[in-house]
Amino acid sequence: MNFPLPYPGLALAPASPQFIDRYNASGHGQLGAARELADGLNAAAASVPPKYFYDALGSQLFEAITHVDEYYPTRTEAGIFDAAHDHMAAALADAGITRPCLIDLGAGSCAKAMRLIPHLRPRQYVPVDISVDFLRDAAEQVQNTFPELAIVGVGMDFSAALVLPPQVQRQDRVFFYPGSSIGNFSPDQALAFLQRIADPAQGAARGLLLGIDLVKDKATLEAAYDDALGVTAAFNKNLLRHVNTLLGADFNPHQWRHIALFNEAQSRIEMHLEARCELTVHWPEGERRFGMGERIHTESSYKYTLDSMSALLRQAGFSQIKPWTDPKDWFAVFWASV
Ligand code: AVJ
Repeated sequence: MNFPLPYPGLALAPASPQFIDRYNASGHGQLGAARELADGLNAAAASVPPKYFYDALGSQLFEAITHVDEYYPTRTEAGIFDAAHDHMAAALADAGITRPCLIDLGAGSCAKAMRLIPHLRPRQYVPVDISVDFLRDAAEQVQNTFPELAIVGVGMDFSAALVLPPQVQRQDRVFFYPGSSIGNFSPDQALAFLQRIADPAQGAARGLLLGIDLVKDKATLEAAYDDALGVTAAFNKNLLRHVNTLLGADFNPHQWRHIALFNEAQSRIEMHLEARCELTVHWPEGERRFGMGERIHTESSYKYTLDSMSALLRQAGFSQIKPWTDPKDWFAVFWASV
């Protein structure tokens, strides 16, 4: 059989995005992770940092969470972007930024940035994520959608340090930190992180577009983190599989229950995994016994008010600060320039 040549898809295939893997290359993916996980499991109040949710399956489960009815943040934020993208572009223009270098922290599927790219028209798009293989595929998708866009994907753990590779343009950097991911930091850590974004020796940002979840009634918050289908429960328990892989541990997800609660005093959702029975988890260099009902703290997701986040941004050294919200005031997107 004769195929028409040239194959049209081939002729139009865009260049692959540049991709820099600073995570696996750093060795942190193996040794550093094992040490951090063992320390967390050995602590009197056991914990695992939430960044370990995001192996390839974890990134997919988080994607699924963004589609469940109870999880309002993603669609609420998308509504804010759709309503305010022209105002956001104008805020950048007011700061003298017409063609930003858009640095997308925790880019995941890059779905949020893809909504904004046509309006912000970045000179360079830099998706950054710890979930390296997932990000690599996502960056290809962005390139297919925007064949002319210069993309530099970066696989790294930006929670510790925020030094970007030299391929990332220094001029007119705008950080994009959507989805309320900053909520995984305590307010003290969030302040330090915002300072690193603004620091000329680190992020060297001219501006920041930041999505934050706002304080609201406890029932709405708790339902968002304990959906009826059990997708969030699966996301939480998938952490145990990932820890088994990274640490060589023998967690059995059947033995654990998903817990989500709003801690009003600390203004944060907490997720835990609770042992359903007495059990012992083993790994090559250690073990930990859990009594029935004992918990592993797996995530805190802090909720802010417009005032508390404005104050934090100002304290971190940002000057022009402007929020957009949805009609119910459930979520906010801030523009802050240095
Ligand atoms: C990706 C950190 C913003 O805290 O809402 C969703 C993660 N955890 N459901 C959040 C998450 C459980 C999410 N962030």
